[in-house]
This record gives sequence, structure tokens and C-alpha cells, in this order.
Amino acid sequence: MASANGVGVESSRKELLDAQAHVYNHTFNFINSMSLNCAIQLGIPDIIHKHGKPMTLSQLADALPINKAKSHGLFRVMRILVHSKFFNKDVDEEEAYCLTQASRLLLRDDPISLAPYVISMIDPIMMDPFHNLSEWLQDECLNPFFTKHGKTFWELAGVDQNLNKKFNEAMACDAGFVTSILTTDCRQVFEGLESMVDVGGGTGETAKGIADAFPGLKCIVLDLPHVVGGLEGCENLRFFSGDMFESIPNADAIFLKWILHDWSDEDCVKILKKCKEAITPNGGKVIIVEMILEDQIEDEKATQTQFFFDVLMMVGLTGKQRSEKEWSQLFSAAGFGHYKMTPAALGLRSVIEVFP
Ligand SMILES: C[S@@+](CC[C@H](N)C(=O)[O-])C[C@H]1O[C@@H](n2cnc3c(N)ncnc32)[C@H](O)[C@@H]1O
Repeated sequence: MASANGVGVESSRKELLDAQAHVYNHTFNFINSMSLNCAIQLGIPDIIHKHGKPMTLSQLADALPINKAKSHGLFRVMRILVHSKFFNKDVDEEEAYCLTQASRLLLRDDPISLAPYVISMIDPIMMDPFHNLSEWLQDECLNPFFTKHGKTFWELAGVDQNLNKKFNEAMACDAGFVTSILTTDCRQVFEGLESMVDVGGGTGETAKGIADAFPGLKCIVLDLPHVVGGLEGCENLRFFSGDMFESIPNADAIFLKWILHDWSDEDCVKILKKCKEAITPNGGKVIIVEMILEDQIEDEKATQTQFFFDVLMMVGLTGKQRSEKEWSQLFSAAGFGHYKMTPAALGLRSVIEVFP
């Protein structure tokens, strides 16, 4: 604390001011997400992309359907987004904005666009329950989503067509992105399989990518009726409407991408037992695409993002992100003998093959 020459007082004052700045920074962290959402809603990445070269603020304002008197607002949103590395400022001639690797992932018509994912996750239906987090910790409700909306996420998605559509599009865009890597960098996981069921496979983007890459592999997508109802399959892809807790069609492999993180340990064991019943006794396996929480923090940002996903699962559903030890306990509890992990094969996510 305070020393005779005042150095201690100065350093403790500095620490206090830093702490105050830390509090303010975290209070307004949501402005990063909301600015990103605004840019996607206005189609800013697409407009800069179509322009073909860096775009000045006045060119951008002219190209956007905004009130031109509010160009100062556009400048301020863009300043945040340059700071958070979604755009670069080219200062060669006149200052102008260009895309970064991150905003290239937000181009609407790009096959690996993540724009629908951002739009869906920042929708008030998904964000509002975060205001109920502390209330939920004190009440008897299943999760803050239920506290807020009076229904589980899956129940609401079953009756709210807009939510269902936005969520399925979000999952589909993530699936498209990940599958392109899965079918190239992780080919060996699917080699030799004759049949596979993508359980909770959404509108089938992952299965389509895998079916295209392995024409000899017969794929079935199992999901709830409001997700797969009316969807058409193709040569080696079929849709199957059902409930994974009731029954899963038989196959050489069961594929579970972003399914188990939605559910409690108890429910995961039920799902995994159903998978075990469904796979071919000799040579069958379950293929899981999920995060593995690390004990040792190596990449601060990746770790924080995994923790974000963990709380997201708690707020919206009943699931969580799991460490290797927690995964291993689930596999044993469901009666599986061994597993093979390919950590971080897909960046934040890993591939886990589980064998009877
Ligand atoms: C987080 S999404 C993952 C979708 C897809 N696997 C992907 O990663 O793109 C979870 C999926 O599980 C489906 N689902 C939820 N409950 C289900 C159930 N009881 N039986 C089958 N599918 C279910 C949802 O409809 C949703 O498509």
C-alpha cells in the first residue's frame, strides 16, 4: 500500500483505475456482438466485397440503405469493427475499409458463410434468457431459456417457424464449413464405412457433404419432424423423422455433431446407449464432433470461446462442454470399451471415435 515516497499510492491508484476500466470493458462487451450483428444485417461485408477494392466511408454510406445524415453512426460502428479486426483500414490513399479473414466468413452468398450463425445467436430470443441467469440460479426452472420463454428451446423451435428456420440455417452454415474440413483432413474416419446415421443432423448439410465425398456410403439424417419434414434426399442420402431417445436406425457408424453438448450427462448416456444398440456389433463406431475442454490454458481466446459455448449450453439447453475425463466417463457409463480422440481437428472442436 502507501509508502513514504508515494510510489505505493500511485501504483495502487493505477491498479484501481485499471480495474475500473476492466469493469467498464466487460460491461460493454456486448457492443462488439451488436456491432457485428448490425454489419451483417446491413450487408456491409458483401458491399465491400462487391466493390472489389477498399471502400471509403462516403462510398460505403452511399451504397447502404441508411439515412445519410447518420453516416457518423456508420463511422463509429466501423471503428469498433476495425478495432475488433472484422475490417482493416487501408491508408494508402484515402482511408478506406477492406475485409479481413473474419469478415470474409460473413459474406452472405459464400458457401462457408457464418452470417446466419451470428444472426441466429444474437436474436433476442437467444439473448433475452441471459437476463434471467441469476434468477434461474435461484428458481426451479430447467434453464434460463425456460425461465424466460416458458418452453424448452426444442419445444419453442417446434412451434415458432421463424426460430426453427433461423436456427436450422445457423446449424447448416456451421455444418457446411466444418464438413469441408472433415471430409479432407479427417477422411480416414469415414473410410470403409457402408452406412451412417447423422443423429440430430439438422437439414442434412453435414451428411450431404459426407455423402458427396463418399458416394459408396449410405447416409441417413435423423432429426425431429419440424426439422426434416418435407426434405428430399438423394442417391445415397435419406431423411428420417424421429426421436433419438426412442430409436436410431442401424448403421456401421452413428455421427453426432454438436448433439451431446446440448444435453445433461444423464441424457447423454441415454443417447449413447441408443447409439450403441444401433451400430454394427463388429467394426461399428460412434463419431462425435465436439469441443474438449483443456485443463491447461494454451490459447486464451480459444479457451474463453469454449467457456462461452459452455454457458450458452447452460442458458439455452441442459448441456455443457466437457473435458476428456468427462467424455471418458460418459463413454464408460454408456458401455463403450475405448475411444480415439483427434484433438482440435476442427479448430475449437475435436473428432472423437468411440468403439463398443
Ligand atoms: C445443435 S443442433 C446440431 C445440428 C447438426 N448436428 C449440426 O451440428 O449442424 C441439435 C440438433 O438436434 C436435434 N434434436 C433435438 N432433439 C432431438 C431428438 N430428440 N431426436 C432427434 N433430433 C433431435 C435438433 O432438432 C437439432 O437439429
